[in-house]
Amino acid sequence: MAILSVLLFAGAAVAHTGIRHILIDGNIYHPYDSRIDPLIRPVRRIEWSHDAMGATFNPITNFSDPSLACRENGKYPALKAPARAGAEVATYWTPITRMHNGPALAYLGRIDSPETKPQDVKFFKIYEYGFNKEKDRWANEDASDHYDSFSFKLPSDIKAGTYILRTELIAMHGNMKELKSNGLRGQIQIYPHCFNLEITGSGTATPEGVNFPGAYKVDDAGLTFPPFATYGNDTSPGNEHNSKYVPPGPPKYNGKYDAPVGPLPVPTETGIYSPELETTYQDLIRKIERPALKLATYINTVWPHYHADADQMKAYGKMGAVAGKEGKEVMAGLKADIAAFKEAAGGK
Ligand SMILES: *[C@@H]1O[C@H](CO)[C@@H](O)[C@H](O)[C@H]1NC(C)=O
Ligand SMILES: *[C@@H]1O[C@H](CO)[C@@H](O)[C@H](O)[C@H]1NC(C)=O
Repeated sequence: MAILSVLLFAGAAVAHTGIRHILIDGNIYHPYDSRIDPLIRPVRRIEWSHDAMGATFNPITNFSDPSLACRENGKYPALKAPARAGAEVATYWTPITRMHNGPALAYLGRIDSPETKPQDVKFFKIYEYGFNKEKDRWANEDASDHYDSFSFKLPSDIKAGTYILRTELIAMHGNMKELKSNGLRGQIQIYPHCFNLEITGSGTATPEGVNFPGAYKVDDAGLTFPPFATYGNDTSPGNEHNSKYVPPGPPKYNGKYDAPVGPLPVPTETGIYSPELETTYQDLIRKIERPALKLATYINTVWPHYHADADQMKAYGKMGAVAGKEGKEVMAGLKADIAAFKEAAGGK
């Protein structure tokens, strides 16, 4: 059983997901891509940089660890994205595994100084999407149907200033009843990303907030929920059961979400490279991503919609181990190319 557990939650590490790019008030930005950016840094990003474990997106699984705020050793970034209060944000993720069922959330928290620790920032929720009964889809499944993206609006009535935008996907497949009845306590996987925004506008609201860690507890109903099929007297395929789901954390900020005022902002810097370098950067990412893409395509084909399936989970775990090995080989093969890119980009 211990071996199965390792296969499910470590071997399948290549199935983890992270933000691929982010659109903020009409401008596109690179995230801090933990698969490549640690190897070419210093890089200039709007996302808080963080420690990475290999060429994967490491989920946070410990609700009391400081990394729940802005990941492991999250560091204040070089850039800020200008955004008008009320503006739209769209996050685009690397291939999302459909059976990684769970919610998508977004928070904002004011940060007045680069010295402030993200754990001391008070975050208020501005977006949450758990399960959609009409669509019969979890947030991650719906994102998967829409180019692995989800989007939301910034409140229009908040006070101008520097904010951390903390976006998050939570995968709850570790709560499969079949695994629990086998004595396996699966992990919840939390995928937070923190971006610095310079929000403009004439609003005055300063919403109350919560801290990370602190806002989530290991026994929160929004985290212990089994996101699959029939439970109790619910009827198959689990729509009734899933529609009772309420995402974790405080309620969404109940302010104004009106359209932004004035022209689109023009950022001085976005982290996007010159065309030639950008082509190389994207090419490297595509190569690094290939094993994970293969695994996601496999699992999304054989397991397109939620249902508990321990055998499928086992097969997937084994493929995850293979993809993990491939991923390491790819990284080893790209070592020289990545070093050359770092040299050419000159710390940008
Ligand atoms: C979770 O994080 C806390 C705070 O960093 C730490 O004390 C604890 O040992 C961690 N738990 C596990 C299971 O790693
Ligand atoms: C299921 O329905 C039966 C009969 O109505 C009832 O006795 C039982 O408590 C229900 N179980 C759950 C878990 O709701």
